[in-house]
Amino acid sequence: MEYTQEALQTFKEAIVPYKDRPDGLLPVVHIAQEQFRCVPVAAQKVIAEVMNVSVARVSGIVTFYDYFTMTPLGNHVIEVCVGTSCYMQESKHLLAVASEVLQVAPGETRADGEVSLRIGRCFGRCEHSPNVEIDHTMHLHVSEQELRQYLNNLEDHS
Ligand code: FES
Repeated sequence: MEYTQEALQTFKEAIVPYKDRPDGLLPVVHIAQEQFRCVPVAAQKVIAEVMNVSVARVSGIVTFYDYFTMTPLGNHVIEVCVGTSCYMQESKHLLAVASEVLQVAPGETRADGEVSLRIGRCFGRCEHSPNVEIDHTMHLHVSEQELRQYLNNLEDHS
């Protein structure tokens, strides 16, 4: 995918405030993923330039964390946690339900670009398992029925 100079410039301006922060690298990679729905090589180069690190270092972060992707995510992102606590509460079943309702395999983005179904590792809310995040909104202690309702509402409004 091509990214316009304008989009890359907007991104650059957004991350400049982080350039002198020793802990700034991870937040700017997050900003890239928010803006581009992934962390493309073009954005990695901008990050490397602004943060004064090598592209290889940025790339290392992008490939190390499951959360980051170099393939654009869908307009809606559904993430089902399959960390230990959620797994013990049948979250694998929720993942299968989401896959069936959304017609997309876990870990994939549907061909029409509308939805991505991601596999979460732990949202840090284990006491409320099983948990599902839908477009940055955390849903706690989710039942199959609730999940179907959330996903059907999503499909109705897309
Ligand atoms: S294992 Fe799911 S939130 Fe921790």
